[in-house]
Amino acid sequence: MKGKLCVITGANAGIGYETALGLAKMETDLVIISKNESRVKTTIDKIKTESGHKNVEGIVADLSSQKEIKKGAKEILDKYTKIDVLINNAGTWYSNLTYTDENIEMQFAVNHLAYFYLTHLLLPALANSDDPRIINVGSDSHFSGKIHFNDINLTKKYHGLRAYSQSKLANILFTYEFNRRNPLKKISINCLQPGLVKTNIGLKHTVALHGLAWKLRRLRGITPAEGAETSIYLASSDDVKGISGKYWDKSKMKKSSKRSYIKEDAQRLWLLSEKLCDIDDYFSVISEE
Ligand SMILES: NC(=O)c1ccc[n+]([C@@H]2O[C@H](COP(=O)([O-])OP(=O)(O)OC[C@H]3O[C@@H](n4cnc5c(N)ncnc54)[C@H](OP(=O)(O)O)[C@@H]3O)[C@@H](O)[C@H]2O)c1
Repeated sequence: MKGKLCVITGANAGIGYETALGLAKMETDLVIISKNESRVKTTIDKIKTESGHKNVEGIVADLSSQKEIKKGAKEILDKYTKIDVLINNAGTWYSNLTYTDENIEMQFAVNHLAYFYLTHLLLPALANSDDPRIINVGSDSHFSGKIHFNDINLTKKYHGLRAYSQSKLANILFTYEFNRRNPLKKISINCLQPGLVKTNIGLKHTVALHGLAWKLRRLRGITPAEGAETSIYLASSDDVKGISGKYWDKSKMKKSSKRSYIKEDAQRLWLLSEKLCDIDDYFSVISEE
């Protein structure tokens, strides 16, 4: 991975941190994106110290805001003309229905739309790599997920789990639809599930009962370093070169839910996501091979 550049979101904690650290240990140059300036700085220092690799930089962007995603992507593109790997990893869990500044339900915005939008914005630099890889961190929670097209913000019947599983199903539908539409076949896109991982995701924006449930549930979980293994594998292994549009678990391909293969839903979600992100033509920023 020496000389390659990886952009990774949500690298200041949990699975994202361990993914970034593992890649830094392979001498991958990194741009980490996190929403808090002091956390970005602390994370960069920590990764540099623990890995001994010095090419680690950071961008501050709250991924719930399309304005900030656009600004962050511009900062990256102003500095780098080539990106080899994009890892969409940042994720969140909200007990209560919460809206972004753009009036979108928070989990749908951060867990799905941020993946969709950031990928679009960074496509010109990804297209300049010989082996560009997009990696979307999903979850097996998608198996219980459904896209509520008639009430995407879940205003009528919100529950944190419904919103989370909807957003994680969206990760896979996005991955498969991107792969079908992708005009530049050298760009690969894959989605993975890290397993049940002992992180603080279920403690940050949760009511006491949900926080307690997560504390008990994660007792059975694997470590964040173990949870990062499939992301690192997909970013770095020669074995996966050219493989695209698949779902992965423990560094192996596996089948995702039945709903995730419904092409009409994937197309519908794609159009809705373009509309919500104000994108006219997703791939217009890159040309066909
Ligand atoms: N833990 C599990 O068991 C599990 C299982 C399946 C899938 N996953 C997936 O794995 C990914 C990583 O989750 P994790 O468990 O490692 O959680 P985590 O420890 O809470 O880390 C999530 C990361 O995303 C960042 N983030 C959240 N909201 C953001 C926003 N609005 N703007 C910018 N960054 C934001 C967090 O930053 P802050 O620290 O500043 O909030 C943090 O860096 C997620 O996509 C999650 O859905 C996790």
